[in-house]
Amino acid sequence: MLKNPATKYRPFPPVQLPNRQWPSRVHTQAPIWCSVDLRDGNQALAVPMNVAQKLELFQTLVKCGFKEIEVGFPSASNTEFAFNRLLIEKKHIPDDVAIQVLVQAREDLIERTVESLIGAKKVIIHLYNSTSPAQRRVVFGKTKEEVKAIAVQGAQWIKDRLHRLKGTEVMLQYSPESFSATEVEFAKEVSEAVMDVWQPTPQNKMILNLPDTVEVAMPNVYADQIEWICTNIKNRESLIISLHTHNDRSTGVAATELGLLAGADRVEGTLFGNGERTGNLDVIIVAMNLYMHGIDPKLDFTDMNSMRDVYERCTGMTIPARQPYSGELVFTAFSGSHQDAIKKGLAEWEKGERPHWDVPYLTIDPADIGREYREVIRVNSQSGKGGVAYLLESQFGIELPKDMQREFGPIANDLVDTLGREVQAEELKAMFWKEYVERETPWRLHHFHADGLDGTFRSRATVFRDGKELALTGEGNGPIAAFVNSLTQAGAPKFEVGYYKEHALSEGDSAFAIAYIQIRLPGGKTRWGAGVDTNIELASIKAVVSALNRI
Ligand code: KIV
Ligand code: ZN
Repeated sequence: MLKNPATKYRPFPPVQLPNRQWPSRVHTQAPIWCSVDLRDGNQALAVPMNVAQKLELFQTLVKCGFKEIEVGFPSASNTEFAFNRLLIEKKHIPDDVAIQVLVQAREDLIERTVESLIGAKKVIIHLYNSTSPAQRRVVFGKTKEEVKAIAVQGAQWIKDRLHRLKGTEVMLQYSPESFSATEVEFAKEVSEAVMDVWQPTPQNKMILNLPDTVEVAMPNVYADQIEWICTNIKNRESLIISLHTHNDRSTGVAATELGLLAGADRVEGTLFGNGERTGNLDVIIVAMNLYMHGIDPKLDFTDMNSMRDVYERCTGMTIPARQPYSGELVFTAFSGSHQDAIKKGLAEWEKGERPHWDVPYLTIDPADIGREYREVIRVNSQSGKGGVAYLLESQFGIELPKDMQREFGPIANDLVDTLGREVQAEELKAMFWKEYVERETPWRLHHFHADGLDGTFRSRATVFRDGKELALTGEGNGPIAAFVNSLTQAGAPKFEVGYYKEHALSEGDSAFAIAYIQIRLPGGKTRWGAGVDTNIELASIKAVVSALNRI
């Protein structure tokens, strides 16, 4: 890298917009959405999708609620052309969905494009040519006037062929490609020249798409460019202003959101942000950002998991684990303090007393997009007692008392640290069982029976101590007290029961009860024990033995 980047790079000039309005606006409704997965997304793949893959993705987009879908570049290849024909001839396009096609300002390409659309119900023909200084100079070697003439000629060639689409509802779209790097005055001039050809009206609008083809500045600059056009272009009411952002500086979402505040009506993007270089805008993020503010995004991602599967299968791309809303880990907390806060937040939410979602660390309820709560808290060596307790409770119904969580949490944490990886709930249960439920040395319970009369209980038990059988009898104000007394008489260390809790286990273990007991030794030291049995009384006696074995 250069010591002084200014010798090679320069800042992007700001737009003169002294009275800008967008910073004080808020979003109130969803834009018109257009998916460009099957065109811009497809163009960016090392191996473009075949017809079957494009169809599967098209059907997924329809299911999500897209009403405008750019299905391809039909003049670019036979596959692209064939895909259009398949959609139309096999009636795969719902009546309320418009298919959009992209075409350059070349007569032969426009001819082929129009041909690909014959018989469709609703279409958008999308014409583009590049307008930025670098493109004018390097790619085309043309003056501003000549570049404008390309756009005008392309617009005219399309207009001349519209009679071939009788019976088809046609909307026209123009993109000054590389708009974000184009002088706003020139972008306006070219766009108005295209408008002069197409003659849009408020009843019969055209789409003016203003692409952030390559992000060359901060998103506020793009917003200024959009507001500048919205304010200065003629006949604004005859236009649908559309945004199409890429993600070179990682601000595609921000640019779109600010562009909407700046007056745009429509957004183009792809699922999961597939697209050229760093990708197109991930439409899911913008839609879900609206959703998390209580605005109906008019797109439905309830079945995010199947969308992920279809996308990965069709495009061969993988979704990064941290991709907002859709990534594998975006609702997951490994850190102990986060887990604790989430656990408390979810418990409060489940009481149903608060009208609005306000759970720490979770921007939305993961369940709304088909994610499971079991994904939220996962345990590795960074996790604390809260996460361990949450998994045991949510997966197996093991409701560890708070104090016992403090004892078992560090034990589990040490074991997980030794493993050096994430552990599953089943593994935590096995650790718990080994530490408490399956402890049978030095004491092992073989048989227990207690009878009570007038508040006094007498117990008889057979236990093994270091493998040696002992017959115990004792008395107390309950079966546990009687058993504890019999143990002391048999030479066990003296202790008293400090805390006791029991409950039925859930699901697979529903025939079993679990008991937790805390014992207190004369010096004040405490130990926890747990016992499991179909008989609740036996579960508690086993819990006493478990605690005794852990002294
Ligand atoms: O990024 C872009 O500028 C495009 C245009 C064709 C709209 O994809
Ligand atoms: Zn693009």
